[in-house]
Amino acid sequence: MTSQPVLEIQQMTRRFGGLVAVNGVSFDVQKHEIFGVIGPNGAGKTTLFNTITGLIAPTSGKAFFEGKEISDRRPHQIAKFGIARTFQNIRLFGELSALENVAIARHLRTTTGLWNGILGLPPTASEEKQTYDRAMELLELVGLSDRAEVKSKNFSYGDQRRLEIARALALQPKLLLLDEPAAGMNPSEKGQLSDFIRSLRDRFDLTILLIEHHVPLVMGLCDRIAVLDFGQLIALGKPEIVKGDRAVIEAYLGDEG
Ligand SMILES: Nc1ncnc2c1ncn2[C@@H]1O[C@H](COP(=O)(O)OP(=O)(O)OP(=O)(O)O)[C@@H](O)[C@H]1O
Ligand SMILES: [Mg+2]
Repeated sequence: MTSQPVLEIQQMTRRFGGLVAVNGVSFDVQKHEIFGVIGPNGAGKTTLFNTITGLIAPTSGKAFFEGKEISDRRPHQIAKFGIARTFQNIRLFGELSALENVAIARHLRTTTGLWNGILGLPPTASEEKQTYDRAMELLELVGLSDRAEVKSKNFSYGDQRRLEIARALALQPKLLLLDEPAAGMNPSEKGQLSDFIRSLRDRFDLTILLIEHHVPLVMGLCDRIAVLDFGQLIALGKPEIVKGDRAVIEAYLGDEG
């Protein structure tokens, strides 16, 4: 465990007025880890993700990705470093097809795609074909290729969550952040999610950080887990250790009965 962590969070703090949503949180995530972030509603999990991905600035504290500071960067710069995410409240373009939703993300990766986007020029035909071929492959991977032309607003929650994952993968990330990937999924979809997330990690050589309330999923899937409560890190470690931690049981697992 002496190698450089993929992600280092140092004393991350975010206030909203008088509320300290994330309070002095520090931890490291190692390459290839599937790292869980759990805690009660309002514990600061999404806010922590937002500070890592540049959506909101930390009040104090820092984040480092592969040793480079990212806490002073904008979201598109952080995406270019190789960090992609999905959202708790799904953010797809509802009027666009599944294929278009994924293809749009991919334009960020191709330099000409980005410049043409800024200058209002169309991409070259071969670039466009490559983008759509790759988007289609990703749709296939998440099991949606047969509905590539369907508008994303017509998909079930579970399908929308998988579509968001395909879109995140189109950015070719090294670190993938998933905010409640099982939310809105039916029991059979939830049952397949662990294997699916593991297969993504292996296939794309990813490190994965995920927020999830479904405790059996988190305990079975994650290599390590961080527990937040009222913005503070109250436990950190392997699932079997965290599961038996008194503070965690009182703050969170007790709720599960
Ligand atoms: N933009 C904001 N402005 C003001 N308060 C905010 C903002 N975003 C989050 N908060 C507050 O910060 C606290 C942490 O919220 P956050 O969404 O990070 O929690 P969470 O752990 O993701 O909860 P959940 O499990 O319900 O998704 C909450 O009290 C929330 O109301
Ligand atoms: Mg949240």
